[in-house]
Amino acid sequence: MSSRARDDTLNVIPSAQNSSLEAVRVSEVLAALSFALDLTEGQPMGHSLRSCLIGMEIADRLGLPLHDRRDLYYALLLKDVGCSSNSARVFELFGGDERLTKHDLKRVDWANYFKAMRYMFSHTMPSAPWFQRARRIVSLARAGSAVATDLIERRCERGAAIVTQIGLGARVADGVRSLDEHWDGSGQPRGLMHAAIPLQARILCLAQTLEVFTALEGAAAALEVAEQRSGRWFDPTLVSACRGMQPALASWRDLGEAALRHEVAEREPGGAVLLAGPGTLDRIALGFAEVVDAKSPFTAQHSFRVTHYALEIATRIGFDERERSDLRRAALLHDIGKLSVPNAVLDKPGSLSNEEWEAVRLHPYYTLRILLHVRGFQQIAQVAASHHERLDGRGYFRGLRGEQVPLAAQVIAAADIFEALSSPRPYRPALPEDTALQIMERDRRVGICDACLDALGEVVRGETADDVEHPLPGDDGESGAMADDAERRAA
Ligand SMILES: [Fe+2]
Ligand SMILES: [Fe+2]
Repeated sequence: MSSRARDDTLNVIPSAQNSSLEAVRVSEVLAALSFALDLTEGQPMGHSLRSCLIGMEIADRLGLPLHDRRDLYYALLLKDVGCSSNSARVFELFGGDERLTKHDLKRVDWANYFKAMRYMFSHTMPSAPWFQRARRIVSLARAGSAVATDLIERRCERGAAIVTQIGLGARVADGVRSLDEHWDGSGQPRGLMHAAIPLQARILCLAQTLEVFTALEGAAAALEVAEQRSGRWFDPTLVSACRGMQPALASWRDLGEAALRHEVAEREPGGAVLLAGPGTLDRIALGFAEVVDAKSPFTAQHSFRVTHYALEIATRIGFDERERSDLRRAALLHDIGKLSVPNAVLDKPGSLSNEEWEAVRLHPYYTLRILLHVRGFQQIAQVAASHHERLDGRGYFRGLRGEQVPLAAQVIAAADIFEALSSPRPYRPALPEDTALQIMERDRRVGICDACLDALGEVVRGETADDVEHPLPGDDGESGAMADDAERRAA
């Protein structure tokens, strides 16, 4: 792979040696985290992995060389990594649940006027009075392709930037950047045509469309859509290569999570696999922290800042280097489950309904579910998923109590609450740091760890805002807890 020479932490070893090593494959980590991307896109969990199987099957049928298949493989796993960067904007434009809007966007053929209008009618401010809806639809129609270009450009550029930051190389990044380009030049954001669209991106676009239609309408219908859009959306050569793929599409649709991950691991192009060293794991955690923070304008930098405060607290209460390393990854990824929460809830200026509150309370559960699939991350998953637990058992999502809450989770909880209180939220401006600390005092020993709160006070009083540095130094409206939760619910 072209990125090999540049990246000393993306260790490459011959596949024959793998069984004797306990190292984690980069592909395993990305496959597990891709479930978070599916949640953000409103797709069923496994969409990215099934798209990966489809794309790799197309590559095999085309007889692509090894280096192309390897870049394609990683691009397929990360195709939606920029997805959260336009979530808030999609919600702002359309209203409603942006995950449903995004889900159906992958199916709409904009060349068909009636289908395009039907999409607009069903997704624009669905619960608003008809005149408000009509006004919004007219304004969206007037803005036309400029809106689509803006939305897709944000997503593609952000996705490409995260791929580059992880260290997977320019070709993988370019594939992700060009995911929504169409063969006839009608795609977004650059309107590339034919061979000007990277081959990987052409495969990504076809694979994800086949996956979405197979899930909803069956394999035969999906292949029919590919034929109908051949020469418009899709490279005709690729569509031809898909003929006869119906049984495979149908069987992949029915795979359970574990079997799906196994199939995807088996499809990793042979000869060598990428192993994730500590540096790579940190960069992947950092990349996915950015995905989480980009979901809402109110949480930009949240995960970074929580990580910074958590590490500072940990140093003061005596964590060793290994414990700090695990803490860093848990803190960066603690809110990854929040990608399951709609922006209508995250960005809501008022109090939450019971149903909305339930969606918020579930986000640590999704954090656990996603991170448990990363081999070697069991401890990190438990810590990250416990960041809303309280010592008195009144936290969520499991209601752990006292020593049941891992110390590292108590550290993250203190950092999380402080970061939330001292940052602006949709329902209030940022609180001064001293006020945030005073509010947290009410929960000393009841909800928040005594030593963590002392250490946090030392950190906050000893540094200026400029001391909080990217990338590893970071309530959410919901989060944190205690003080902030109570405030939000009563708003
Ligand atoms: Fe958080
Ligand atoms: Fe949280």
